[in-house]
Amino acid sequence: MKKTKQIEKNAKIVNKYLNLKLKGSPKKLYDAAGHLIIHGGKRLRPYMVIKSCQILGGKNSNAMHAASAVEMVHNFTLVHDDIMDNDEMRHGVPTVHKKFGMPIAILAGDVLFSKAFQIITDSKLSANATTQLVSRLAKACVDVCEGQLLDVKMAEERKIPTQAEYIAMISKKTAALFDVSCAMGAICGTNKAKDISNLSSFGRNLGIAFQITDDLIGVMGDPKVTKKPVGNDLREGKKSLPILMAIKLAKGKDKKTILKAFGNSKVAKKDLSKAVDVIRSLGIEENVRKQALKYAEKAEKSLTKYSGSAKTDLIALLGFVVKRSV
Ligand code: IPE
Ligand code: IPE
Ligand code: MG
Ligand code: MG
Repeated sequence: MKKTKQIEKNAKIVNKYLNLKLKGSPKKLYDAAGHLIIHGGKRLRPYMVIKSCQILGGKNSNAMHAASAVEMVHNFTLVHDDIMDNDEMRHGVPTVHKKFGMPIAILAGDVLFSKAFQIITDSKLSANATTQLVSRLAKACVDVCEGQLLDVKMAEERKIPTQAEYIAMISKKTAALFDVSCAMGAICGTNKAKDISNLSSFGRNLGIAFQITDDLIGVMGDPKVTKKPVGNDLREGKKSLPILMAIKLAKGKDKKTILKAFGNSKVAKKDLSKAVDVIRSLGIEENVRKQALKYAEKAEKSLTKYSGSAKTDLIALLGFVVKRSV
């Protein structure tokens, strides 16, 4: 499934704005902050901000600041996430801490985080709307931090989480930002409580579907397509839904092969790749995608009372998110 032309078009507009804002001195700090942005990224979150504003009849220009801010926050989380996850490649290039070193990577994340809030206050929206945007985005950042810690803690523990615990964790680490993207779009659109809550619920469920699919790709995707390595979640002992399903389903030698790699930071490349092959052979993909679809269907229900082309675009985005391999 390809990204829609609409997503690509939108990404170009957001890129221009981001490039403009990510300049300064010392240059190295800004090079590090823009590193992942210039080398790729789907720009899904800004797309959701803009479409959520449009679905309510709002103007694109009203949502541009919030859209760029959300993408900056997203990139801040990526830079710090790659440190936490010991990941060396993203968007087909070395991660920020690998390329620029740890101190600059931490600072690059901090710059992205801080600039996001500065950009929101640059917008021409009312003081009330601006305060709401800042407050909601700040709350989402706290949720992401809480969710990231849950992710790390789950990986450290031997205990196998329930599916509900896994969903609670991804709701915070990932869906919170999708949720707030749509809520911010709604604030830039009508700023009515009911619209904010409908779009926020759309974003949250889409975000859960997105992370379930992401976890599938993380354990059996094609690195040539995803531009990030496969199997690292397994090596890091991440308790993602597809990994838990695979461990439950595998028997005998297959199970041993998976467990040899699971949570083993010193696993040999060839053993990790054997474990990935076993997982690919288990046939879990359909079941995992079904789970993602369940959340996508919930998301669609939140848009029942709306119509028009932005609704069509948001529903197409749901299709992309559950079918994607990138
Ligand atoms: C990656 O998100 C981080 C997760 C929440 C899984 P994206 O896949 O949206 O990141 P981009 O497209 O590389 O920016
Ligand atoms: C996604 O993290 C959540 C955040 C980045 C906050 P993951 O660790 O699951 O995503 P990838 O696989 O590194 O993109
Ligand atoms: Mg990661
Ligand atoms: Mg992570």
